[in-house]
Amino acid sequence: MSIVRIGVVGAGQMGNGIAQVAAAAGYSVTVSDVSQAALDRGLSTVNGSLGRLVKKGTIDEATATALVGRIRWGTTADIHGDGDLVIEAATENVALKYKIFEELSNVVQEGAILATNTSSISVTAIAAHSNRPERVMGMHFMNPVPLMQLVELIRGMATTDETYDAVKTAAEKMGKTTTLSRDIPGFIANRILMPYINEAAQALYEGIGTREDIDTTMKLGTNVPMGPLTLADFIGLDTCLAIMEVLHGGLGDSKYRPSPLLRKYVEAGWLGRKSGRGFYTYAAK
Ligand code: CAA
Repeated sequence: MSIVRIGVVGAGQMGNGIAQVAAAAGYSVTVSDVSQAALDRGLSTVNGSLGRLVKKGTIDEATATALVGRIRWGTTADIHGDGDLVIEAATENVALKYKIFEELSNVVQEGAILATNTSSISVTAIAAHSNRPERVMGMHFMNPVPLMQLVELIRGMATTDETYDAVKTAAEKMGKTTTLSRDIPGFIANRILMPYINEAAQALYEGIGTREDIDTTMKLGTNVPMGPLTLADFIGLDTCLAIMEVLHGGLGDSKYRPSPLLRKYVEAGWLGRKSGRGFYTYAAK
């Protein structure tokens, strides 16, 4: 099966990054979101990212312009009608993902593959809400998508070898290295990353150290690019909490209990960089 056209549902943090790397790989790309404002924000993020890559000399201006020209934006899912691979990158919410897969089933061509960028939810359950579970895959990109090398692939119960091969080939064409995870809550990346971030929130809650001491300890002591609290703000505290809930509910072990501090921050609307405040405060963009 050859993939030529890629659709992306959701123009947010992950969706616009996926659209960018797909267009960079030469695919013609469609992006949908519920409002024109969301699409405009998506396009402006792509332009911002490309501007950085041009400045760095990674790509030239003409390549960046051609890349943007390969992306079509629209407020309804039927824009993906002739897509060969449609990747859902909406908010990490089970009911929303089910609804999108039901909707996509009605609008995309027969034979098209549907992928979900879910970071923790069962791919098998999402696939069961489509009319083609054998052609559904988990395709977990990492943020920021243009810079991060990994795409974690997840096969649902019904996913065929042909679907897996086609999605793996597409991810590699986008310049990514793939790994394969079983369809177990959190997969590999978030099964390990989120308890680490959650524990950092808990360490702050217990007053083991200040936010700076916690981040600096892990950054300089374990050579990670960002301390865990900075990383949590970067990912979004609501996303971190949602993933911890999936781990806790899906695996049933109390060791995955979300830190009460993480929950409180989300209740307060302190979601990290995107809301201007999380564990740290950020100047308005
Ligand atoms: N597009 C293009 N270029 C970008 C960019 C983007 N979106 N974001 C940053 N850059 C560039 C910058 O322009 C900069 O370029 P120069 O080196 O030429 O100046 C370079 O990348 C480094 O950026 P910064 O100086 O701003 O900051 P940094 O050195 O801290 O790097 C980072 C930024 C790459 C994000 C790095 O901090 C990092 O790797 N952090 C960890 C990210 C991570 O762990 N991501 C996974 C999150 S988990 C996830 O996504 C999955 C999930 O399910 C939750």
